[in-house]
Amino acid sequence: MTKTGAGVLHIRNLSVSFQSGHELVRAVNTVNLTVKPGEILGLIGETGCGKTVLGMAILRLLHPDTLISGEIVYNGTNLLALGEEEMRQIRGGGIGMVLQNSVTSLNPVVTIGRQIAESVELHQGCTGDAARSEAVRLLKEVGISDPETGYDAYPHEFSGGMNERVMIAMALAGNPSFLIADEPTTGLDTPVKNRIVSLLQDIGRKRSMLFITHDLAAAARICDRIAVMYCGEIVECGSTADLLSGPLHPYTRGLIGSLPQRGFSPISGMSPSLINAPPGCRFSPRCDRCHECCREHHPPLQEISNGRYVRCLFHD
Ligand SMILES: Nc1ncnc2c1ncn2[C@@H]1O[C@H](COP(=O)(O)OP(=O)(O)OP(=O)(O)O)[C@@H](O)[C@H]1O
Ligand SMILES: [Mg+2]
Repeated sequence: MTKTGAGVLHIRNLSVSFQSGHELVRAVNTVNLTVKPGEILGLIGETGCGKTVLGMAILRLLHPDTLISGEIVYNGTNLLALGEEEMRQIRGGGIGMVLQNSVTSLNPVVTIGRQIAESVELHQGCTGDAARSEAVRLLKEVGISDPETGYDAYPHEFSGGMNERVMIAMALAGNPSFLIADEPTTGLDTPVKNRIVSLLQDIGRKRSMLFITHDLAAAARICDRIAVMYCGEIVECGSTADLLSGPLHPYTRGLIGSLPQRGFSPISGMSPSLINAPPGCRFSPRCDRCHECCREHHPPLQEISNGRYVRCLFHD
């Protein structure tokens, strides 16, 4: 998987829906995104906006009944057209993923090292001492200070932050060129969170990464570009510096305004349902600059300048 252009991902017109009784939950709606080689793209948005569904769709980890359309092109191959065996090779080997809340999936009665070694065996095909030394190397790579001792520890002997590092090590076990990290800092206190984010930054220097988070401050620290998701759609995308210094979408402005250093003022109202989204702009019920036409016309995602996209008829 390490070839020219390795780690480049193009998501084109991706829609993901779930049948829920008689209703259709439209979790992801015609999303277009690109992650360039060696880039960290942040995907931010409130709870329930579709971030995890999007991440899991990339690796085809959703239930087979899920309705998925569009294209997910990784290194020139549309993943949605691959057979299950080819997809298995992509998972871990090409694209690694740290699943949201995955720390809870660590087996409490198997040592940390053995669990990582199992991932190494699965993805690299090596066994025995070779798998063990690769697991130790991975523990070192993710910043476990004494990896030989750490190998023999059980999950309950590690702190939350150390176990999160273990999940990152497992995601790296196949030496992927692309990493999807889904909320890897949830539940950690600020200093630990900051150290994990720094680790992701180091990892991102060698690989491409999709960093899924609702923590704009964390995304701002390490992402080259940020895509803002609202109610299943991308509403703004641009370089981190541009987006933070001059947000174009009212929702992005609201997210920035809710940062502690910007006064902590939350966006009023709640995200609309993904079953019956408003017909016009999905943010219009919460937008303080909403015009009549915003309630009627669903705005397209427009390219405002090179690499700068916004979905708002009255953007700044
Ligand atoms: N299997 C499913 N069946 C029906 N609806 C689902 C299913 N999986 C997810 N959803 C819905 O899809 C929407 C998006 O969920 P998702 O988990 O992607 O949100 P998220 O942005 O990751 O939120 P969070 O920040 O809380 O992790 C939610 O409304 C969720 O209820
Ligand atoms: Mg999620």
